[in-house]
Amino acid sequence: MPTPSSHIVVKTPVVDAIGELYAAHGLGRKCAVLFDENTRALYGETVLGSLRSQGFLTVELVVPARETSKSMSSAWKIYGRMIEADIDRSWNLLAVGGGVVGDLGGFIAASYYRGIPVVQLPTTLLAMTDSSIGGKVAVNHPLGKNLIGFFHLPELVLIDPSFLKTLPSREIYGGLAEVVKYGFISDRGFFNLLTEHFDGIVRLEEPWLSEAVSRSAFIKADVVEKDFRESSGLRATLNFGHTFAHGLEKLANYRNLRHGEAVTLGMCCALFLSHRLGFLPLAELDEGLALIKRFRFPGGVIEKRFLAYGGEELIDSMYSDKKKIDRKLRFVLIDRIGHGFLHGEDVANADVLGAVNDARAWFTSRH
Ligand SMILES: NC(=O)c1ccc[n+]([C@@H]2O[C@H](COP(=O)([O-])OP(=O)(O)OC[C@H]3O[C@@H](n4cnc5c(N)ncnc54)[C@H](O)[C@@H]3O)[C@@H](O)[C@H]2O)c1
Repeated sequence: MPTPSSHIVVKTPVVDAIGELYAAHGLGRKCAVLFDENTRALYGETVLGSLRSQGFLTVELVVPARETSKSMSSAWKIYGRMIEADIDRSWNLLAVGGGVVGDLGGFIAASYYRGIPVVQLPTTLLAMTDSSIGGKVAVNHPLGKNLIGFFHLPELVLIDPSFLKTLPSREIYGGLAEVVKYGFISDRGFFNLLTEHFDGIVRLEEPWLSEAVSRSAFIKADVVEKDFRESSGLRATLNFGHTFAHGLEKLANYRNLRHGEAVTLGMCCALFLSHRLGFLPLAELDEGLALIKRFRFPGGVIEKRFLAYGGEELIDSMYSDKKKIDRKLRFVLIDRIGHGFLHGEDVANADVLGAVNDARAWFTSRH
């Protein structure tokens, strides 16, 4: 079984080295390549051309560029195309896109012919630093997101930060939420680097962009390696801010609020909760908030939407998060910048509400 970190390659341009990398990892040159419509239009010719010039046999598969492509019906259609193209266990699947393509591609690879290898070629910041790593692959069910899936580690994750030059800035900020999260939960030095070079990273300047992408990817891989099946609580720390974020996404009906935007708001609530419960000193709370303040979401819309929800409304919505245990909410907190932990005890609703209201007051004071 591949281990998460030994199979991550960060390189520009990575596709030129794909033949060598496949050979070094024992992968065959028969490759089903999954895109969404956008990544096909932007990078299809480059990726397919490079594969063919390096002697690969390829079959191209394309899905619409939207979250609803992560569905059983979409997987079903792709299985059909693969069967018609005589794709068998000697093939592998290369997923070229954001988290939607990566999750769908991984799901299809985990199930097709009882499992074929998957290689991830992430093209969004979120996919490069989070979703392509760690082997969680899933499709959505009408009753909830990511409910039907597998643990299916990629044989290779090929990261080329230069793909980000075509990504809209809203998606860059969305991905940066997860990047900043790694600083909060596991690496003070990385947090300092992000604070110092935040604007350069947003402008996709090197070497800061590659440094941020690569450090995030390896932090995630390291956490996953130590707690693959989420049994010790370590992998759960990757959910810093996410209990609040899932509640917000649900309140917004998963529309008009990107996951990273919800995570940014959620991290703000989690910082206040960490402080309120006596774990996080005030100076570190302020430092954390100062970094979050630098996120620029379009027209302040996201903050305004957050302010439009009542605190109680958000808490009710959080109770429907699938990660609750015995209807109790579980929170990842930090006790200093660079160290997250899963809080083992129940948190009183009054404290959760207090933290949400602190965050609301903080956002209000910014407008
Ligand atoms: N498996 C995991 O561990 C994990 C972790 C976090 C999130 N996820 C999943 O990831 C998904 C979200 O992923 P996402 O944020 O990457 O969204 P996405 O895949 O929907 O991509 C966002 C948009 O950017 C476009 N795009 C992709 N690359 C581009 C590029 N280089 N230039 C221009 N446009 C580009 C896409 O076509 C799409 O329209 C969700 O389904 C979420 O559940 C999975």
